Amino acid sequence: MNILIVLAHPERKSFNGALVDTAKGTLERAGHEVQIDDLYAENFDPVERAEWYANHNNNEYFAALTEQSNHFKAKQLPEDVNREISRLDWADLVIFQFPLWWHAQPAILKGWFDRVLVYGGLYSGRMRYDHGYFRGKKAMCSVTTGSPAQTFMPFGRAGNMVEWLWPFHSSLNYIGFNVLPPNVSYGVQAGGIQYQEKAAFEAHLETQKTDWASRLRDIEQETPIPFTGWSDWNEDGVLRHDHPMRWRP
Ligand SMILES: Cc1cc2nc3c(=O)[nH]c(=O)nc-3n(C[C@H](O)[C@H](O)[C@H](O)COP(=O)(O)O)c2cc1C
Repeated sequence: MNILIVLAHPERKSFNGALVDTAKGTLERAGHEVQIDDLYAENFDPVERAEWYANHNNNEYFAALTEQSNHFKAKQLPEDVNREISRLDWADLVIFQFPLWWHAQPAILKGWFDRVLVYGGLYSGRMRYDHGYFRGKKAMCSVTTGSPAQTFMPFGRAGNMVEWLWPFHSSLNYIGFNVLPPNVSYGVQAGGIQYQEKAAFEAHLETQKTDWASRLRDIEQETPIPFTGWSDWNEDGVLRHDHPMRWRP
């Protein structure tokens, strides 16, 4: 497979960076092609704004969706957006590597979605969900957290990882990806609140790397998270009344 790793971390020598190196080595040894897309190293500007669009058709009012669509059709998207789209076109699997920051992805990666996933090009009214541009391709998150694993358990103070990643996973599903279950490395708290002695912490990090590598060796066999699709919904976009997933008629 062609595998793109999108890294959203300001420090390449961080644990997130180390997980990228683990992934690249493991996947290449298994015969895959790997490209790293390091958003901070490339100085990716994540803020969507009018100035990106050379020929915007209304100087009084900036409509992001209109400009994205018009500039896609005219082949006038910003160079960095075109570069990111080519990388996505190349990939069979996209891995997003990032630390959990305020219960979500870092802003650089949120803005990457805002700018790169252009309306009228990578999605439209009918080209969404299981009819999406990226159908047939896979994507997944590899996330690190500061809080330890037990605090993410039911009733734990750190909250629910399924809920924190729901917007990210929904967006990937929206543009057609099959979404693999995330890889979560919990309790990676270098420089902040400490939960372990140094030696135990270092051993913990090594285990996280080993677990990630062993999961990646068989990544091609993994089953995606199930989502509903067009054939499951009625004309209002709601789960059909006779659908087996409904808990009441
Ligand atoms: C701005 C910021 C926000 C953070 N928010 C969270 C959070 O919501 N939950 C959490 O468990 N850890 C949080 N952390 C801790 C990071 O997830 C943790 O430092 C990171 O996963 C460690 O990986 P690294 O050593 O590669 O940076 C936050 C850290 C920063 C800098």
